[in-house]
Amino acid sequence: MTYGPSYQKFIEYVDQRKARLAAESAARFEGHSRCVLEIGCGDGDFLVAYGQENPQQYCLGLDVYKLRVDKGLKKRDQLGLENVDFIRAEATEWIETLPEHMAFDAVFLLFPDPWPKGKHFKKRLIQPDFLSLLAKKMAPEACLYFRTDHKGYFAWTQEHLAQHPDWTLGPVEWPLEVETRFQRIMGAYQSLVAQCTPAAVPQALVHP
Ligand SMILES: C[S@@+](CC[C@H](N)C(=O)[O-])C[C@H]1O[C@@H](n2cnc3c(N)ncnc32)[C@H](O)[C@@H]1O
Repeated sequence: MTYGPSYQKFIEYVDQRKARLAAESAARFEGHSRCVLEIGCGDGDFLVAYGQENPQQYCLGLDVYKLRVDKGLKKRDQLGLENVDFIRAEATEWIETLPEHMAFDAVFLLFPDPWPKGKHFKKRLIQPDFLSLLAKKMAPEACLYFRTDHKGYFAWTQEHLAQHPDWTLGPVEWPLEVETRFQRIMGAYQSLVAQCTPAAVPQALVHP
């Protein structure tokens, strides 16, 4: 298939960005095989508090907005936390470019953009392909923690997890209660917790 010059340029740009992410992750995870991940970490309220409570865990927050990443870094620096870092990256791209040996001890997705209109549902982060990608990087018994104020997105996520062969919904036990910026704004919310089915965890991650 032949693409026009502007689309070709866009593909090259994405390839370069992915190569840069892969190089960064290879360096970052040279001494680590595990991390706790927060996707769409916003101002970093949750991850900074979680990292402070769990100094033995390496905690990474991702957000596409530089301004939010910078706020998280500032909070981290004010507390002098060496086990917490924030990265500007898109979640799917970043996960796709991780080194093979790397796995998540937990993944938090708190108040993700709900994309409430039907024509935008395809933009929601929770999709079958995304759940498959995530499942390949979950450590044994690691959980996905999801929280939203949006009833439609909660039902969507519950349904997608229930139907996905790699995931099982579990009891909702929340490891740490921290009011994030969006939790403060939104008020009422619902939470769910899911775990990978043991068969979905790649053998390479069972005995790292
Ligand atoms: C509604 S805000 C919630 C922020 C924070 N979790 C909170 O509870 O205050 C959603 C955040 O996800 C980020 N985001 C959206 N899609 C993303 C993606 N694909 N990868 C990384 N971050 C994303 C947005 O930039 C935004 O900061």
